[in-house]
Order: sequence, then C-alpha cells, then structure tokens
Amino acid sequence: MAFAIFVLQLVIYILLFPLYLLNFLGLWNRICKKWFPVFLSKFTVTYNQQMASKKRELFGNLQEFAGPSGTLSLLELGCGTGANFKFYPPECRVTCMDPNPNFEKYLVKSIAENRHLHYERFVVGVGEDMRQVADGSMDAVVCTLVLCSVKSQEQILREVRRVLRPGGAFYFMEHVAAEQSTWNYFWQQVLDPTWHLVFDGCSLTRESWKALEQAGFSKLRLQHLQAPLSWVLEIPGSFGIHILLQTHTVLPRPQHLAQNLAPPQHSSPSRGGTCPSTQWNLSTQAFTRP
Ligand SMILES: C[S@@+](CC[C@H](N)C(=O)[O-])C[C@H]1O[C@@H](n2cnc3c(N)ncnc32)[C@H](O)[C@@H]1O
Repeated sequence: MAFAIFVLQLVIYILLFPLYLLNFLGLWNRICKKWFPVFLSKFTVTYNQQMASKKRELFGNLQEFAGPSGTLSLLELGCGTGANFKFYPPECRVTCMDPNPNFEKYLVKSIAENRHLHYERFVVGVGEDMRQVADGSMDAVVCTLVLCSVKSQEQILREVRRVLRPGGAFYFMEHVAAEQSTWNYFWQQVLDPTWHLVFDGCSLTRESWKALEQAGFSKLRLQHLQAPLSWVLEIPGSFGIHILLQTHTVLPRPQHLAQNLAPPQHSSPSRGGTCPSTQWNLSTQAFTRP
C-alpha cells in the first residue's frame, strides 16, 4: 500500500512539476497567498449552499451565549472571506482574524452583504498568538476549515480558551482524516502533499478530534459525519471519493447544560459507517466553565 501511495504521489509530482518548481524557487507562497482568497470566494458559494443545513444546525444556538446586554461578541478565527457571516444572529459583534491580509477585500464584501452584524475589526495574525484579543473578551469563538491548516492545534486551542469568557463556547467544523484502511484514507494520503501545497497549508490527514479532546474544555460535543457534498472525484475504473470526508460540529446545546457544566469528558470518537445517519457518533461539547 505504501508503495502504491508513493508511486501515485510521484505521478502527481511529475504532472505538477511547474508548481513544485515554483515552490522550490520560493515563488509559490506569494502566489498562493493571492490565489487562495480568489479560489475560496468562489468555492464558498457552492460549499455554503451544500452545507447550509449543517451550518444552521451548528450556529443555531449562538445567541444563547450572548452576555447580559444581549449582545454576542464573537471571534472568527481564520475567517477567510467571511463565509459564516450569514449564519450569525442579528446584532452579533464580529471580530475577524486571519494571517492572510489578502482576505480583507472579500471580508469587506461579506460585511456589506450582512448588515445584520456589527463588524468590529480585522486582525491580521495567527490563532497560535492572539495577543491582540483580550483575555475572556469573547462569548464565542468560531473556527471552520482552519485546524487543518494551522501549525499548532494545541496552541490555538489554548488561545481560544484564553480569549473566551467563562461559560463561552467554541464552535468548529473541520475536515479530518478518514478511517484508516479505507479507500478514502488511501486517497487522502496520495493527495496530501500536493493538497498541502496548492491549498495554502491545508492537510487532508489531520486527526483534529484528538487535540479537541485534550484541550481541556469543560464540555465537548463532537460529531463525525459524512459531509453532504455532491462533488465527488471519480477515480477511473474504481470508485469515487468525497474530498471533505468528515466534519466535527458542536451541536445545539441541550437544555440541561444551560445550568451546569459537568467535569471534563473525553471520549474517543468511534468512526462511523457509510450511511450519514450511522456516522453521528458522539457525544461531548466545547464550553469553558461559567
Ligand atoms: C480553508 S480556509 C477557511 C476559511 C473560512 N473559515 C471558511 O470556512 O470558509 C482556511 C483559513 O485559515 C486561515 N489560517 C491558516 N493558518 C491559520 C492560523 N495559524 N491561524 C488562523 N488562521 C489560519 C487561512 O488563511 C484561511 O483563511
């Protein structure tokens, strides 16, 4: 299997030789930082359409975390083009952070299209170092399709806990490694090096649930599911793969959690089968203690 992965990776290297050459010459990173926002602004339209029900489910209870004034202060980490803005509740105060300044022009457009929000500011920086955001200043932090690209998930989650107020919530939706010994995992491994280069550091094979389980949230609710995306990459003669294989979400908060947050729960996610309904496995939630 390892040999087959190596050979297929070699074929991709050869086919994409100009790209690897640009990278070797140190030119690709600058191009990628400009290209990626353009790509994402187009990709987001389709992605948001197909993931709309999941995003509505994910963000449906955001307003419950608003402070005493009724206003929700939210930090969107790795905000990209502002793809999640339309799912936020009215009057939500949004602070955006992203290391790539080229996203700002797309953010401005999203802000103009989402007048129900109060846009606070755009911070250029990485989630591993959010010193520009004060301790305990946020009711909610949102992170979608970001943990796949970061240097240190552990450090980011430490920073998320720092900026969240006691009782605040962290919302995430990430694509992760498929179950090992599946064809999906095989293709993830084949594509990963090139994917990483083309999509600005994104990795297909990260097991992000492990860092989330160890981050020390007082409650973690995490699900594995097959993303309801229709675009399938057909590999001639054999099978198709869904590139976005599994997604973690925080579920709407059950009523009993409104009063109390139990001691930390860390469960290992068992991985689901092929039917989406059997892939909703688990169980815990991401909140800081009130
Ligand atoms: C695939 S895009 C997702 C954008 C947006 N969250 C969405 O769901 O459409 C990944 C984003 O994470 C950002 N990013 C990469 N590394 C990061 C880091 N260390 N800290 C914060 N954001 C990061 C990228 O610049 C990019 O905007």
